[in-house]
Amino acid sequence: MIVCVCNNVSDRKIRQAVDSGMTSMAQLRENLGVATCCGKCHSCAKSVLRECLDKRTPAALHHVHALVFQPNIQAA
Ligand code: FES
Repeated sequence: MIVCVCNNVSDRKIRQAVDSGMTSMAQLRENLGVATCCGKCHSCAKSVLRECLDKRTPAALHHVHALVFQPNIQAA
């Protein structure tokens, strides 16, 4: 689905951007051009961004948990 008609940005492009590390509307604006013209796509783009971040949080937390709570990590 096209989220930003002005800049031809799809929800897939936003998901790929989040997968590559983007976490804010400012980053999406700067890198994809989302919401930089008429601005009508801002709320939809923000919803897609939030949905992507919500979905990736459990895996990210699991990774952090594994790093923090491994009892026998030896410093090199
Ligand atoms: S639809 Fe995204 S800036 Fe116009």
